[in-house]
This record gives sequence, structure tokens and C-alpha cells, in this order.
Amino acid sequence: MHSDIEIRPVTERDLPAIAALHARAFGPGRFARTAYRIREGTTDVTPNSRVAIFENALVAALHATPVRIGGTPGALLIGPVAVEPAEKGKKYGQRLIARALEDADADGFRIAILVGDEPYYGRFGFTPIQPGRIWMPGPVDPRRILARELAEGALAEFTGLVAAA
Ligand SMILES: CC(C)(COP(=O)(O)OP(=O)(O)OC[C@H]1O[C@@H](n2cnc3c(N)ncnc32)[C@H](O)[C@@H]1OP(=O)(O)O)[C@@H](O)C(=O)NCCC(=O)NCCS
Repeated sequence: MHSDIEIRPVTERDLPAIAALHARAFGPGRFARTAYRIREGTTDVTPNSRVAIFENALVAALHATPVRIGGTPGALLIGPVAVEPAEKGKKYGQRLIARALEDADADGFRIAILVGDEPYYGRFGFTPIQPGRIWMPGPVDPRRILARELAEGALAEFTGLVAAA
């Protein structure tokens, strides 16, 4: 029988496995990452976070945090995104991100933003934001701040500092 991954929302019971995956995927520097800083003080189980399960094992996790940008709600910060190191390159990352974007759109978010590699995230429609429009707490290479509209033209509504909603 062909088995496939299941993508579903994160639950409290996934948290130990996600923490262990983050340690393997990102190493000790992970708590300094921008997504961690913005999430500080927010819950680890948010409605738009997703995990991928293959044969009862968690193989990938995507965290998503509703944020305000310059005080305006309606943006979803994606990240961290982590795929089990031994399972990289099997499209789990792509499928998780595509599903998270679909669900965020259905839930009424107007844009998704993240800090990441344009060569990877470009395939999902993420593009670098115009310099100076959106900034993050702490040092971030502005070329790595990427946004993807969920509602057409929505990017124009958002400018300012990113903070947990
Ligand atoms: C980056 C990551 C999420 C990608 O997930 P994945 O399941 O391995 O990737 P997929 O199988 O969906 O996609 C593979 C494709 O993405 C490309 N790719 C992977 N990482 C890339 C990067 N950083 N830049 C450009 N392309 C990248 C691969 O070359 C491959 O290309 P192809 O489709 O042309 O063959 C995963 O490798 C990972 O967890 N890495 C460590 C943690 C990390 O860097 N997370 C992202 C920052 S939050």
C-alpha cells in the first residue's frame, strides 16, 4: 500500500517532537532567530501551525504566528519551517508551505511574511519587500524579508514593525 504524509494542525502533544526537530534542523543558535524573537511570549500552538506526519513520525513542522505590521492585523508570519534532516528533498517542505498558505488564505489572512531564502520561497510566490517598508525586531538582513500576498494588492496595506498580534 502506498503511504503518504498527513498534514494537520499542531497540537500540544506535538511540541516535544517539534522542539527536538528544531534542535536537529537549526542547532544551538536557533533561539536568536527572528521568528523565535517575535514569537516570544506567544503560545506554541497557533491555529495556523502545521505538522507533516509520515508513518506516525513527525517529519516536518511549520510554525505560523499572526502578526501586526505597523499595528495593522491580517498578516501571518511563517517560520520556523523545519524538515527532518534525513527527509530533506522529498517535497515535504513544499507541501507543508503550500498547505499553510492555502489555509491562511481560507482563514482570511491578507499576506504571509517570512525571513528566508528567496531562491527557495520564491517558488511559492514570496518576493523581497521594498526596502524599508517592513522591519523586524533585532538584526535581519532586509533582503531576506519576503512577503506573499494572499489578497491581491494587500502588500500596500502593510508597513512598519512586525509584532505578534
Ligand atoms: C529548507 C527546507 C524547509 C526545505 O524543505 P525540503 O522538504 O527539504 O525541500 P523540498 O523537498 O520541498 O524542496 C526541495 C527543493 O528546494 C531546494 N532548496 C532547499 N533549500 C533551499 C534553499 N535554502 N535555497 C534554495 N533552494 C533550496 C532544493 O534544491 C530542491 O530544489 P528542486 O525542487 O529544484 O530539486 C528544509 O531543507 C530544512 O528544514 N532546512 C533546514 C532548516 C531551514 O533552513 N529552514 C528554513 C528557514 S526557517
